[in-house]
Amino acid sequence: MRERQVIAPEELKRQEEICARVMERVTADGQRPLAMVDTYGCQQNEADSEKLRGYLALMGYGFTQDEFQADVIVVNTCAVREHAEMRVLGNVGALNHSKKARPGQLVCVCGCMVQQQHMADKIKHSYPVVDLVFGPHELWRFPELLDRVQTKHRRVFATAPSDGAVAEGIPVRRDGKVKAWLSIMYGCNNFCTYCVVPYVRGRERSRLPEDILREARELVAAGYKDITLLGQNVNSYGKDLPEPVDFADLIAMVNDIPGDFRIRFMTSHPKDASEKLFQTMAACEKCCHQLHLPVQSGSDEILKRMNRGYDSAKYLRQVALARQYMPDLVLTTDIIVGFPGETEEQFNDTLRLCEQVRYDAMFTFIYSKRVGTPAASMPDPYTREEKQVHFDALTALANSISLEKHAAYEGQTVRVLIDGETGRDEYNLSSRTDGGRLVHLKGDPSLVGTFADVKITASSTWALYGEITE
Ligand code: 5AD
Ligand code: SF4
Repeated sequence: MRERQVIAPEELKRQEEICARVMERVTADGQRPLAMVDTYGCQQNEADSEKLRGYLALMGYGFTQDEFQADVIVVNTCAVREHAEMRVLGNVGALNHSKKARPGQLVCVCGCMVQQQHMADKIKHSYPVVDLVFGPHELWRFPELLDRVQTKHRRVFATAPSDGAVAEGIPVRRDGKVKAWLSIMYGCNNFCTYCVVPYVRGRERSRLPEDILREARELVAAGYKDITLLGQNVNSYGKDLPEPVDFADLIAMVNDIPGDFRIRFMTSHPKDASEKLFQTMAACEKCCHQLHLPVQSGSDEILKRMNRGYDSAKYLRQVALARQYMPDLVLTTDIIVGFPGETEEQFNDTLRLCEQVRYDAMFTFIYSKRVGTPAASMPDPYTREEKQVHFDALTALANSISLEKHAAYEGQTVRVLIDGETGRDEYNLSSRTDGGRLVHLKGDPSLVGTFADVKITASSTWALYGEITE
């Protein structure tokens, strides 16, 4: 096995020293400069943006959401589907306006999209508004890269291919005060044939349990009530570590931290979700009975061509086992419609599987061709319009099942964590059940960050509505 690469603590110390230097320079006129961080894509990217903000705060920057006020703009991109890339390119192009209005504004583009060589080249040649480009492997040295752009007054591109490393000690500035992301591992080794992630985020590497537990303890001490453990496939956790530890062990260790908080995780690959995992989820009182188990397709032939490592029978056995341990399990999934060559019959297999499993929520996507992936060279004879018909049928099924599942909550009393304000009068608070379902409530804003028992009085496809009973 490839040795786990770690960024030396001295290197991170050096980044902190650079932050202090940058701070001195950018605040020399007595004004606090402002930064804007714009995030696309998954929760891992949200977590990465919290590190970018951590560094920016250390460099003396305040924050804004207005690009006309920002001295530094960082766009953290996603490469999973073409749609996200198009949005990024459109929005980055439009930054010409703010840069003209605010000379000296620096535009940085980072994340998965620019780790693809063809995209870094495109930005280099067609988007002169961009000053700094860096991939996910360079995030730990963002201060050094920004400093270079600021002092050398030239564009910097840092997107060399890499298998990736683990960097501990990057400062984090979290968005919320109630829910927190906690990355437990990075990268992916699964190489599903449609997916670009393994090419841009590198090989699987786990953080040490002690580093994760230290961060979890800090979160609990800071008052966070909901911790989501993040990894592309959390079931691979620990495989690259010298000590014998797996994801279920990690859940049990986080569960042992004293305090009133919940544990969730994303994402679990069906090929290696274990009985031990379900057992542990059921046994750990802080672990939510919520499982995101992406099936991608209900057709065995398509699953094989996707290189998913399971067939529909194995998937259904996993679901049955998980529900045996947790009868109240809230189950969600991802599905790709229109994988190259997917026939009507194969799509119908997906519909049938979904009807059988009855997911609480489904995240559905039309297949998007990704440069350099094996699926990109598979024959793809069906038109976008034909795929759209299937997509609409699947969405309709997903919505009808969600509606039915939500209606079944009516009259029940459930425990929720109140996580924010909605800005609306009638239901001014938002909250989540243990299973992660959204519940709108009416109540005092001071309740944000507390648990409450709620009687569900109404429901829709997307949400539940309730009254606090305690
Ligand atoms: N096209 C469409 N959807 C994709 N996903 C990943 N790659 C692609 C692609 N090329 C979906 C999968 C995955 C989710 C995060 O995004 O369903 O689980
Ligand atoms: Fe992509 Fe598959 Fe890895 Fe998920 S498990 S990130 S879909 S390659």
